[in-house]
Amino acid sequence: MFVMSFAGHDTTASSLAFTVSMLATRPEYQRWIQEEIDGVLASGVDRADYKSIFPKLKRCQALLFETLRLYHPALLVTRQTAVDNQLQVVLSKTDAKEKTAIQVPAGTLVHANLHATYLSPELWGPDCEEWKPERFIIPAGTDKPGWPEYRPEPAGQTAEKLVAPPLALSSFWSMGPRICLGMKFSQVEFTVAMFTAFSQASVEPVPRPEVVAKTGSAEAAVQEARGELKGVLDRSGFGTTGPLLHITEPEKIVLRWHRR
Ligand code: HEM
Repeated sequence: MFVMSFAGHDTTASSLAFTVSMLATRPEYQRWIQEEIDGVLASGVDRADYKSIFPKLKRCQALLFETLRLYHPALLVTRQTAVDNQLQVVLSKTDAKEKTAIQVPAGTLVHANLHATYLSPELWGPDCEEWKPERFIIPAGTDKPGWPEYRPEPAGQTAEKLVAPPLALSSFWSMGPRICLGMKFSQVEFTVAMFTAFSQASVEPVPRPEVVAKTGSAEAAVQEARGELKGVLDRSGFGTTGPLLHITEPEKIVLRWHRR
């Protein structure tokens, strides 16, 4: 039941819902992935050839990483300690070098607050609260210190590299013996959905009729609808349903697709 309903479905569904909604607010990022998708299709590959297409869709994979960073479907990862431990932690708000010893007896339940690491300015920089998938993409032949290439490609295969801080990636899908069993599956599933949808269409929010009447311009109304949609995403979080992320006002999100 866990694998079918939450682990295998809700996680990827939630990531797709947040990403498509976010893209509806940011047309420039739709053009960004469409440029990549169009480039791959123009190279004459077979649309159904996973092996040659998936590794080239780096920007599409970067969307997933960035959505997981800001809208990860799981709030906590919980573990139980097997032996007595002593942790050296920084509790001081003024001195990062001042450490306090905390005793953690065997059998303690430890909840790792993943979201705190996703919003760490030390790890992500001063723009850590912004949704910016391009932070995971660099031109081939360049480096980003502390951000190794994710699944390195043979040199010359792609114009861009997908990079990520190892600590962050290991918490998106966990690590060690209990690492997510569906990690690669969910990456491929998400990328296929982006590739299929955005190769053929673009998405935008449907403005409310009163906004259309008020603005008198279709483009201005869509622009206002983008702002309202961003507000819905900003207000979404972990609600009354437990430690799972949800769009809290889904009835306010109405999207329409235009064929390209
Ligand atoms: C974006 C999508 C996904 C994310 C972010 C994600 C994330 C995670 C995380 C963080 C854990 C570790 C939880 C913990 O240790 O408490 C986990 C475990 C697990 N995931 Fe995923 N997951 C995703 C998709 C999937 C899919 C598609 C499947 C199955 C097809 C799946 C199957 C599992 C299973 C079975 C476990 C438990 C592994 C174990 O305890 O040994 N996940 N996932």
